[in-house]
Amino acid sequence: LLLRGKNVGIGMIGHGFMGRAHSMCFNRIAEVFGSAVPELVTIAGRDGEKVRAAATRHRYIQGTTQWEEMLDDPRIDVVVNTTPTCSHAALSIAALRAGKHTIVEKPFALNLAEAKDMVTAARESGQKGFKNLVAFNYRFVPALRLARQLISTGAIGEIYQYRSVYIGDRHTDRSSPYTWRMDVAQAGGGALTDLNSHAIDMLRFLTGQEVSSVLGWLKTFIAERADEQGTVHPVTIDEAAVILAQWDNGKVATLEASRVATGYKNSLRIEIHGSEGGIIFDLARGNELQFFSRKDPLAVQGFRTISATEPSAHDFLKYWWPRGHNLGWEHNHLHMLHHFLECVINEMPIEPWGATFEDGLRCQEIIEAVKISHATKCWVELATLR
Ligand SMILES: NC(=O)c1ccc[n+]([C@@H]2O[C@H](COP(=O)([O-])OP(=O)(O)OC[C@H]3O[C@@H](n4cnc5c(N)ncnc54)[C@H](O)[C@@H]3O)[C@@H](O)[C@H]2O)c1
Repeated sequence: LLLRGKNVGIGMIGHGFMGRAHSMCFNRIAEVFGSAVPELVTIAGRDGEKVRAAATRHRYIQGTTQWEEMLDDPRIDVVVNTTPTCSHAALSIAALRAGKHTIVEKPFALNLAEAKDMVTAARESGQKGFKNLVAFNYRFVPALRLARQLISTGAIGEIYQYRSVYIGDRHTDRSSPYTWRMDVAQAGGGALTDLNSHAIDMLRFLTGQEVSSVLGWLKTFIAERADEQGTVHPVTIDEAAVILAQWDNGKVATLEASRVATGYKNSLRIEIHGSEGGIIFDLARGNELQFFSRKDPLAVQGFRTISATEPSAHDFLKYWWPRGHNLGWEHNHLHMLHHFLECVINEMPIEPWGATFEDGLRCQEIIEAVKISHATKCWVELATLR
């Protein structure tokens, strides 16, 4: 692999919400972590004027409307695919086959067939030393790292129940314009794929458990919407998704997601109840973790609020500020991209801390099973999809 020491060339496809988030993080990585040095080479989009403006703003050497130019550019080591879901497979597979370390945004793929093709390409490029990652960024929230540690060290005992609620009100307003996110052919799904994909990955990451069967329910509340030009389109994605996910050990998790949860913005709440204790995480208070232990004296038992900001005790905090100086949403993307670059330059595995394309496939299987379950009104065994 032709890396130039700690310098890693970046090619970014997309300059929307996520292209902007990743670009801003790459600009700060060397400053914050002092190891890998990302070199922002090319950013790609579909509109020449906009992509040139994005290149200037984020300090890329160039902007292009031809993302394919990245494939044979020797200055580019890492390709980041932040396009809508319908181009996750084709662009990521092309990048992997061109010998680029590849990051793709979530949801991993449009469907299970695409996800399997992406994993085949990832396995082949992995044998040549190229890394892959799915941007499940919540794996890099210090408080959620603490939750994983508490679970794996037995602090809450045997898990009885796992509950996740990822909700917002982005679609409550009937006049909010139609976008690619409401078209199943471009997005692959709605609340199920956009929000619950994160929650599915969190369930696997925090507990180490694999889902064996699911029962799913999906709902679209507003059947059609006008785009910004006034053209009316049918809404073909779900606006709410509820999953009962049975684990291999027979336990059931509930994962609820909604884009019409009036009054909520981007609320991710996870509650885990075990034989010895409990954990609550709420993204609105993302620097904190609530922990309950039955080992505490009865008189003072109750959820305690831990500020997961102790530099010597909590993941990533040594790179930031003294205790109690909180981090924000973009910091977990920074941590994720730092981890990826460290794995690239030091030839270390992305897993278990980062989500690989294999994790993307596991998540996509559950999404596919939920869609089948909703259509058939039956439990679906994941084994039937393999
Ligand atoms: N990890 C997270 O927290 C998170 C948050 C939001 C979105 N996402 C994911 O990121 C992806 C993008 O979402 P977004 O909100 O940034 O979308 P967006 O609409 O804001 O941006 C999409 C970008 O992709 C570009 N694009 C589309 N097709 C292209 C092509 N063929 N060639 C070059 N550029 C192309 C567009 O020009 C645009 O710049 C989605 O998969 C979404 O689910 C992840």
